[in-house]
Amino acid sequence: MIRKRVVGNWKMNGSTAVIGEVLDQLRTERYGAEVSVCVPAPYLHLAVDKLAGSPFQVGAQNVSEYGDGAYTGEVSARMLKDVGCKLAIIGHSERRRYFAESDATVVGKLARVLEVGLYGIVCVGETLAERDAGRAEAKIESQLAQLHTLMARGAGPDRFCVAYEPIWAIGTGRAASSEQIASMHEWIKRCLGSSYAVLYGGSVKAGNATEIMSIAGVDGVLVGGASLDVKDFGEICRAAG
Ligand code: PGA
Repeated sequence: MIRKRVVGNWKMNGSTAVIGEVLDQLRTERYGAEVSVCVPAPYLHLAVDKLAGSPFQVGAQNVSEYGDGAYTGEVSARMLKDVGCKLAIIGHSERRRYFAESDATVVGKLARVLEVGLYGIVCVGETLAERDAGRAEAKIESQLAQLHTLMARGAGPDRFCVAYEPIWAIGTGRAASSEQIASMHEWIKRCLGSSYAVLYGGSVKAGNATEIMSIAGVDGVLVGGASLDVKDFGEICRAAG
């Protein structure tokens, strides 16, 4: 059986003290799920050190679409790998919205991630207006379309997964319904192939994790706010297996 994946996305939160405290606690736990934490870039090295020798992995929240060179302020996939990251979140809706990341940018970033052997988590999701207009599936299909060029070049299900994060469910306390999640995960697997893992993200909490994890086609979760609380995050990890 393939283990479910739980990915904590700390976003732009945390400090040396908080990360030390949470990860010192986390490293003493054991879960049946594959668990990783994506901390802000300045803390990646610290997080890798803290979790060394544990089953937990550290990931980045973003990566440059360029290779090493004159790109002030950017962090390359090679650097992430070099400091011990195992995965990277790509195309989170906050990056698409506030930093104008296009589908082409997202595919460029995934290409860099795959080149160095990191695992990619590609985020997709529709706005409430798109859902209300009956355009949710078309939006997701168009966000996934460019991935096919990388898939044709060998980017299989062992190299990346998709995180379905409806934008209206992120940080709002209002997760998508079981029916909405089941039907979109089925759609994504129809677009990409059923062997690609699909995570759900958007207001996942200790209180709804067991239900979300039991929905057909949910291979894990991407957790924002609740991943900052070690107790809540632990409960979500336990719900995953
Ligand atoms: P949330 O965020 O769990 O706080 O809704 C999810 C995400 O943005 O990945």
